[in-house]
This record gives sequence, structure tokens and C-alpha cells, in this order.
Amino acid sequence: KPAPPCTIVIFGAGGDLTKRLLMPALYNLAGSRLLDGTTTIWGVDHTDGSDDSWRKNLSDTMESFTKDETAEFHAKHIDPTAWGFVRDRLHYLKGDFLAPGTYEQIGEKIPGNAVFYLAVAARFFAPIVEHLGQAGLLKQGDGAFRRVVIEKPFGSDLASAQELNKRLLAVADESQLYRIDHFLGKETVQSIMAIRFANGMFEPIWRRDFVDHVQITAAETIGVEERGAFYEPTGALRDMVPNHLFQLLCMTAMEPPVSFDAEAVRTEKAKLVQAVQPVQPGDAVRGQYRAGTEQGRTVPGYRDEPHVAEDSRTETYAALKLTIDNWRWAGVPFYLRTGKRMTARRTEIAVHFKPAPYRLFRDTPVDQIAPNIVRIMVDPVQGMTTEFNAKVPGPSMQLGAVRSTFREGDFFRQEPNVGYETLLYDCLSGDATLFQRADNIEASWAAVEPLVKAWGAGGDPEPYESGSAGPKAADELLARDGRRWLPLD
Ligand code: BG6
Repeated sequence: KPAPPCTIVIFGAGGDLTKRLLMPALYNLAGSRLLDGTTTIWGVDHTDGSDDSWRKNLSDTMESFTKDETAEFHAKHIDPTAWGFVRDRLHYLKGDFLAPGTYEQIGEKIPGNAVFYLAVAARFFAPIVEHLGQAGLLKQGDGAFRRVVIEKPFGSDLASAQELNKRLLAVADESQLYRIDHFLGKETVQSIMAIRFANGMFEPIWRRDFVDHVQITAAETIGVEERGAFYEPTGALRDMVPNHLFQLLCMTAMEPPVSFDAEAVRTEKAKLVQAVQPVQPGDAVRGQYRAGTEQGRTVPGYRDEPHVAEDSRTETYAALKLTIDNWRWAGVPFYLRTGKRMTARRTEIAVHFKPAPYRLFRDTPVDQIAPNIVRIMVDPVQGMTTEFNAKVPGPSMQLGAVRSTFREGDFFRQEPNVGYETLLYDCLSGDATLFQRADNIEASWAAVEPLVKAWGAGGDPEPYESGSAGPKAADELLARDGRRWLPLD
């Protein structure tokens, strides 16, 4: 069903996000006929431009994706009907984000429903929303809605996230605010709810009685690329943990919601994050990549990347052990890790189950008995594996480790998706389930606050070679509990 009629106003029309993700997402939505025929898209930015130049620019970018297999969006060819639908609805407005005049002009362009998409640097979030409020553009009446989509990073610590929420909520209602976390747009992340709550065979054992521990990994092979200026004051912890990894954590560990209503789901997520105990520096490891090889090519160390200080202490890797103090998870460690320039790209959740209660198969050496693991694979493969023991064929009773794999593409036709389609569609349709509520964000920052403080106070991250599995101390973090990270390759 197409989304309701709406004017979409994109702040940051000339930015990277608009080109790489928003336009492909709108194109895919148009291709699936999910946009209303009256949809209008206004791009706002401070540089000179016109409808024609913006349309031309974005058409060229869309075309260039057909030649770039590494882009988030890649298609063999651009369908002229779907892209034409989007292109013909694009309009450009030159305007300073901080000047009231810009908002007067925007006001003249939006007759009814509007979504304001903030594809801009974080320092503009509060000022833009305040200007929208002062110009009366957030007032909803006569059945028309006004919504704001806010990108990450949402704050840089607990205090700044609280302050940002306060400023936004002074001019907008919580129900108008759509705080994006693009991990929630990923198919398998949403599928975790289906796997857990639509089946009778996982949820009963998804708890402390049966689960030994959980590993959540978001490993990347790429380095910081051209984003040094953003990454230097940010680092792996802020960039990935209280947002993306905590969303994976919530989906994996929250209680079943009473419905899929946005408030019901978000309440369970908030309760889970509130049960996460603040992580102490002794339960966390930070690392920074040195030179090495990435897919056969020699790559520089982080400190030699553009816009990075020679003596930078910014972490490009973070690993931590979380404790969740609630009835279901007490005593079950959750180990989280994320890093750039690692051996392989892999985003996954691995739930490790406790072994069988006693050893019946004495002929099989203990170290050859496979641990039972359910792995939910988010990227680059989407699906799930279960790992368990079976009998090796032959006259003796020997155990062998086996694995059964479900890949999404084997069962379902996969829709073209850059991860933003669902999020955009949901926002247009008024479904906030996959967006972050203020309390969830603040509780996440509170959980990592001791680390933000301790790591900001000094000390060097532990070096690790590019193309490796991360710093040694991260192995020790698990080894002291008698456990090991799953290998990345
Ligand atoms: C972004 C981070 O939010 O997520 C990046 O700022 C990171 O540093 C990216 O590379 C990872 O997302 P994905 O979807 O590529 O796993």
C-alpha cells in the first residue's frame, strides 16, 4: 500500500547520505509503487543550485552506481520509470540552515503532511528542529502530520544526548521524532523478532538456564577512509556501540512485546537497556589499527590516515563484556566487539548454548564435541546457522560437528534494499517501531558512560595489525572467563 501523500524535505541535499542512500531508497520505493503520486521532495542546502542541476547531479550519481559494485546500492541498470518518478519530484532550495528566512520559504512549499529529514552534521540537529518549531512548521492540524527524521550520532555522551532530547522535545512531541539507526533497517535484524517470537523452538531455551553466553560482532575490513575528521572525536565506541550494537542486543535479548505496536516494542527495548549494567573499563578493550594488508593490498595505519592526528588516541576497535541484570539474563555474559580493518566483514549474533548435562559419548574427546551455537547472520550474508553434534557414519559411536544453514536468498525473493527503504516508508506511514525513543538512547549512553569517561581521560589504545582479528587484550577478555571469540574467517 503506498505511503500517504507527503512533502519530504531533505536538509543536506548535497551530502553523501542523500546521494548514497536516500535517493536509492526512494528509487526502490518508487519501483515497488510505495510512494504516493503526489509526493514532492525538496532538497535544502547552502550551496547554489536549481531543480535542474540537482536532478542532473543525482541522475548522474544513480547512473554511476551501476558501475560501482562496492556501493551500498548497486544495480545493473537504472529503471527509467522508477527513477523518473523520483527525479520529476525533486526540487532544490538554496538556504542557510541557521537563517529564519529559509524556514519561511520552506513553509510556502508544504501544503500538508511533511517529513523533515536531517541528513546533516549533528551540530545542526537541534538548531534546525528549533527553527522548524519557531516557524510553526511542526504544528500538526487538520489531520496533517509533521515528522522529523534525525540521523546519528545522537549525542556524544549521556549529557549531550539528554540535552539534545531536551531541545528537540521543547518544540516537538516525542511521536513526531524519528531517530534513525540504520541497523534497524537491515532485514535480518528485523527477522530476529520473527525467529524468536514466531517459533516455539527457540524462545523457551533463549535464557540463562540454557544459554552460556552471547557474542555480538560487527567487524569491518574497511578503514576510516575519508572520514578522519568525523572519526577522530568519535571512535569505535561512540560510532557503533550504544547505537548499532545495542540495537542488535535489544533484538536478541528483549522480552517478547505484547504486540508489534511501536510503543510496546520500544518499551521492551528500553527495559532491556535499562537492565544493562554500566560497563567498567576493566571489562572493555580498545584498539587502534596499524599498517597491514587488506585483501592483498598494503594499507596505512590509522595514525597515517587523512585528517587523523599523528599521535591519535582514538580507538578503531572496541570490545566489551556486558552484564544484564534481569530475570532472564542474570549471569550470562554478552560480549560485544566492533572494529575497522579486521580480517573479514561480518556482522552477526552468536548465541552459545550450554553443553549437554553429562558426557554420554565418552569415545569422543571433549575438545571434539561442538558447542551448540545459533548464529544470526546480518552481513554480508543474511540468514542463520545452527551448530550441533551428530553421529559420524561408521561402526563406532563417534560425534562430529555439523551445521545447518538458512540463507534468506534460498527461500525468499530478495527485494532491492539499501536498508533505508523500510525506515523511510515506516516514517511516511507513521510507524515508529524501528526508530529509537528518547529513553532508549539515553539508557544506552548511560551503559557506556564509564568507558566514554575513562577512554576520554587518556591512555593509548592497544595497536592491532590491519587485517587481523583485533588486539590481543580482546582475546584475554574472554579467555579469563574460559571462552573464545568465534573466528572471523
Ligand atoms: C555507520 C558508522 O553508522 O555504520 C560507520 O558511522 C560504519 O563507521 C557503518 O562503517 C557500518 O554500517 P554497515 O551497514 O556498513 O555495517
